[in-house]
Amino acid sequence: MDIEDVRSDLSEVLFTEKQITDRIAEMARDIERDYPKGDVLLVGVLKGAVILMADLARELKFHAHIDFMAVSSYGASTQSSGVVKINKDLDTEVAGKNVLLIEDIMDSGLTLSWLVNNMMARGAASVEVCAMFRKPEAVKIPVEVKYVGFDIPPAFVVGYGLDYAENYRNVRGLGVLSPHVYEGADPHA
Ligand code: IMP
Repeated sequence: MDIEDVRSDLSEVLFTEKQITDRIAEMARDIERDYPKGDVLLVGVLKGAVILMADLARELKFHAHIDFMAVSSYGASTQSSGVVKINKDLDTEVAGKNVLLIEDIMDSGLTLSWLVNNMMARGAASVEVCAMFRKPEAVKIPVEVKYVGFDIPPAFVVGYGLDYAENYRNVRGLGVLSPHVYEGADPHA
C-alpha cells in the first residue's frame, strides 16, 4: 500500500519510501565497509524487520546470509513487562559468527538489549545492531545501535513493517498513527 492509501489514519507522514530506501543504501555501504569479507549473519526480528531485511539484504553487494527470530516483549499490559520470550528461534548456529541484528524500531531498547545478550551467550564472535528507526526519548535500556536509519519522536508510528493490530505493515513509508484510530487504547499494548 502507498502511504496515501492510509493518509486519513495518520496525523503526520514522517518518511516516504524513497527517503527510507535512500537511507538504506547509505547504511548498506557502511555495513560493506565494516564487513569487507561479507562474513556476517543478518538476524531479523519478526515480524517488523521483514521489510527492512528484504530491502537491506538486496542492497548489500555480498552474499547476505539471513535468519529470523520471533520474540515478544510486549504482553497484554500497557507497559513493557521486562520479559522477552522466544516464539521462533534461529535455524542457524551463531557460535563464532559475526551477528548483525536487524530491527524495525528501537523503542525502550528492552528487546534489543536482551537479543544482544542472547547472541553473546550463544558464543557469537561479535554482535552489532541495525535499526531502521529509533526513538531516543523512549530509550530505557541503552543499546549501542551501530547502524540507525532515522531518529524519530516518541510517537506511535506505523508502516515499513511496523503495525498497529497487525495492520499497516505493508504500507510504503512511515507515519504517525492518528489517535482517532486507537480511540484511547494504548497502541503499545
Ligand atoms: P522495545 O523493546 O521497547 O525497544 O520495543 C521494540 C518493539 O516494539 C519493536 O520491534 C516493535 O515491534 C514495537 N514497537 C515499538 N514502538 C513501536 C511503534 O511506534 N509502532 C509499532 N511498533 C512499535
